[in-house]
Amino acid sequence: MHHAVIAATGLYTPPQSLSNEELVETFNTYVARHNEANADAIAAGAVEALQPSSPEFIVKASGIRSRHVVDKSGLIDPELMRPVIPERPNEEISVLAEMAVNAANQAIAAWGKPASHIDAVLCACSNMQRAYPAIAIEVQQALGIDGFAFDMNVACSSATFGIKTAADYVATGSARAVLMVNPEICSGHLNFRDRDSHFIFGDVATAVVVERAEDADEHGGWDILGSRLKTVFSNNIRNNFGFLNRAAPEGIGKADKLFVQEGRKVFREVVPMVSEMILEHAHDLTLDPHGLKRMWLHQANINMNDMIGRKVLGRDPTPEENVIILDEYANTSSAGSIIAFHTANQGFAPGDTGLICSFGAGYSAGTVFVRKR
Ligand code: COA
Repeated sequence: MHHAVIAATGLYTPPQSLSNEELVETFNTYVARHNEANADAIAAGAVEALQPSSPEFIVKASGIRSRHVVDKSGLIDPELMRPVIPERPNEEISVLAEMAVNAANQAIAAWGKPASHIDAVLCACSNMQRAYPAIAIEVQQALGIDGFAFDMNVACSSATFGIKTAADYVATGSARAVLMVNPEICSGHLNFRDRDSHFIFGDVATAVVVERAEDADEHGGWDILGSRLKTVFSNNIRNNFGFLNRAAPEGIGKADKLFVQEGRKVFREVVPMVSEMILEHAHDLTLDPHGLKRMWLHQANINMNDMIGRKVLGRDPTPEENVIILDEYANTSSAGSIIAFHTANQGFAPGDTGLICSFGAGYSAGTVFVRKR
């Protein structure tokens, strides 16, 4: 068995950003128009008036202040409230693969070896642009990589499931180096007319190169000390969009064909599940969780991360210890913990340890303990 290391990471951030204020202005315009158009029915009690959203609520409930998006124009149009992303001909690279390739090129440049040294590509994210051919194979082709590639979807936990899959391939010799990409166009499956969740997601792509330790620079990258996965079925985060929708056309366009969640229940159930998982995994690796230098947790809600951080470290973590990027990026599903890791992994001495952890729909959760080489 071979040891695996995280050798390099990359991040592609779409250039357009959307603030809470801009998002709420659009939502509240939609609400005002809806209530005005239905004034009589609302007065008669036949239709319920919609309630406005507020930037103050969003920051207090989630910590989110803005998000990067692939297309802003459709999101700030109260008549559309969805991204405008034209279809591309089959001869052109798909939008999701293009974002993944941007992040991957950055990771490969940081790695310092040619892409041809990669044996496998995993596209691990929560929404694939199409059923097939796999986005991962398109990325493989665009980068000129031999070997194999496939897509995997474990919702927000996809990246840690992807890192573990990559590390297991390296451990068993199935691959010497694996590229794992997480392109997320969350604006494509977010219901921007749903007050409870219209603010939660953003778009981004991340990439991680995992390789055999003996191939890696002596002091480059991060030893993967252990990776662990967990799933427990829950209906509290769901998206019923799928290929059988056309067999029941009466359901097409309904709210459940986009992201829906019982946010409060998710919060209550996932915080203890993930905290216990982290502590158990640290114990099994004989790591003192209080000694972790940094945590790169899934970025859904700042209050969740504060609570998990407190349970893991046994005290209030400092902002340096518990990295938060969701204020700028919002929830970027699988990519969140990788953005945190990519942007805030400086200042580590060899031997210092940290934790990458993701959690989300399924429920699903993954923990990856790393040590600076
Ligand atoms: N603007 C203003 N008020 C709003 C609002 C909005 N956009 N959305 C909801 N509210 C109101 C609600 O109507 C409710 O009012 P009430 O108390 O009078 O009934 C109140 O604010 C609280 O709503 P609630 O939905 O319970 O808020 P919350 O504190 O649970 O925060 C989330 C909502 C989504 C931010 C939070 O539950 C969360 O992040 N949960 C975890 C989600 C998660 O990790 N999901 C994984 C996704 S991959």
